[in-house]
Amino acid sequence: MKLTLTEKLINSSLVEGNLERGTRIGIKPDQALMHDLNAMMTYLALEALDLDKIKIDLAVQYIDHNMIQADFKNDDDHRYIQDITSKLGITTARPGSGICHQLHLEHWGVPGKSLIGGDSHTVAAGGIGMLSIGVGGFDSAMVLAGETFYFTMPKIVKVELDGKLPPFVSAKNIILEVLRRIGVKGGIGKILEYTGSGVKTLNVAERSTITNMGQETGATTSVFPSDENTRKWLRAYGREKDYTPISADKDATYDEVIKINLSELEPLIALPHLPENVVPVSEVAGTKIDQVMIGSCTNTALNDVLSVANILDGNTVHKDVDAGLYPSTRTVIREAMARGAFDKIAASGFRLFEAVCGGCNGNGFAPKTDGVSLRTTPRNFYGRTGTKSAKVYLCSPEVAAASALTGVITDPRTLNVSPVEYELPEKFIDDYNIFIEPSSSPEDIVIRRGPNIKPVPEMKPMENILSGVTLLKLDNDVTTDHICPAGANFLPIRSNIPELSKYGFNVVDESFPERAKKSGGGFIVAGSNYGQGSSREQAAMVPRYLGVKAVIAKSFARLHLANMSNWGILPLTFVNEDDYNKISKDDVLSIDVSSLVEGKIYSLINETSNVTIKVSSPVSQDELEYVKAGGRINLVKEKISK
Ligand code: F3S
Repeated sequence: MKLTLTEKLINSSLVEGNLERGTRIGIKPDQALMHDLNAMMTYLALEALDLDKIKIDLAVQYIDHNMIQADFKNDDDHRYIQDITSKLGITTARPGSGICHQLHLEHWGVPGKSLIGGDSHTVAAGGIGMLSIGVGGFDSAMVLAGETFYFTMPKIVKVELDGKLPPFVSAKNIILEVLRRIGVKGGIGKILEYTGSGVKTLNVAERSTITNMGQETGATTSVFPSDENTRKWLRAYGREKDYTPISADKDATYDEVIKINLSELEPLIALPHLPENVVPVSEVAGTKIDQVMIGSCTNTALNDVLSVANILDGNTVHKDVDAGLYPSTRTVIREAMARGAFDKIAASGFRLFEAVCGGCNGNGFAPKTDGVSLRTTPRNFYGRTGTKSAKVYLCSPEVAAASALTGVITDPRTLNVSPVEYELPEKFIDDYNIFIEPSSSPEDIVIRRGPNIKPVPEMKPMENILSGVTLLKLDNDVTTDHICPAGANFLPIRSNIPELSKYGFNVVDESFPERAKKSGGGFIVAGSNYGQGSSREQAAMVPRYLGVKAVIAKSFARLHLANMSNWGILPLTFVNEDDYNKISKDDVLSIDVSSLVEGKIYSLINETSNVTIKVSSPVSQDELEYVKAGGRINLVKEKISK
């Protein structure tokens, strides 16, 4: 049988099920990655479960998300993480060494292997030919504990790239083109597999820009083949021994096909407030901007930094623009310094930040009130920067750099600049000090725990009859940032659910936490793609803590759906989507869920209007058991204590 690349990758880790689309399958991943923000819940859960050693070949912890040390909270979290990883047998990167996905590609990514990461953009590793899937902190904990990772076998979409990108039209425009065509829901239940003659024109960093932001289509993951360019990348990081060529069989069959001619692409830009609002830059050229942020796991590899330096070289940032660059890793910083690129960027008037997520998740460099911010990040969700009234546009580093100079959105091809040719170095500067190996005497480690770090709240099993008011009636595409705010004020309290819960849904309705508490919890009703965005499980834990019993939506985003089941919120979908209109905010609802069975249709009663609505749950029987138990942690605790 001819196999796609995706099928080959899945087969190498498969332990349960088969490749039949839409069925539940289980894999044993080779690697796990975590970052500080989501890992706090991972380790608090592992402590609650009394795990003393990880049961996976390789796990790497990064400290890149929560970096502002305005007080003790973030630094306390970092110390706790360093202690517990050392005890559990996990390698840890020093704080500020780089953004997890890029650091992982540089130092640990291995073609043909599988990776589960506690962050939605884990999918970046598809650029090196890995099967990489993002999960929440609790699912990461389960992977570290050696449990099988389950997901629904997706459809496989062939994305055929032909031709070669024109000058100043870099890889970001390929994924923006994909988003322009299929939108933020177009990848749900699918894996995007890149093929075609255009693939060999892209290096691993460019491929990872595409796989990384493929997350914004809702896809389970995206993959590129491992080829000669992959070998060159591994060689440059001193890891040629990790190279294996891997690609689809000739004549493999796919569920869908998308064709993109790279030679015909032009600079593209996503308008506020969704990554799918993509138009040619020419349509909005001349729009005045206030801020430019070049950075994120999507877009500050060495090729991006050199391209930006080339555009800025000898020029000055416009007086009305505040521009800053976050490099992706410390190796990129050192290589860019050695090549004089940082000097050109600094001389132009750009700010130079450390190698972290930073402004991407609202952890610094927020735009001014009503500010227009041009960013190379993967997301422009409402409120994500920390400034609710900001308008964020997403573009390539070249568009961002050109616009920083002119003060308005600018097509870089209109500037008088020659393109720069980029070649990977034979060997990057060695950066051995980034990682700290776990302790050889874990029993001696005393874990330091700051006062802001609170244990995982106890959660009661689900009742047989759920009843309560409709606390919120929401539209389509509610993001995890809407549910649980991003930004420098909130990230440091991620390990403190009672405190964080005071801000649940604040972006939508500031009265939500108070109302939820007063009503003793209740229901949330939403349109399609509820919970799109990040893998952070606090977006499930916060509503759960506030008493939300079920979310009834037209559809859910994959990662958030898993987090809801893990933390004991019942996800329900309308059998008939038009019934969404039969519930209003404050309506009293009730549902008998004494027998939770996969695929079963339930009667949801709107007591206020006396209408019965048919609903079902989109999750598996196993996940329904998690919900019934009040959260997966209760079940695992029970299993361990037996
Ligand atoms: Fe970090 Fe933003 Fe990527 S928060 S992991 S740089 S999407």
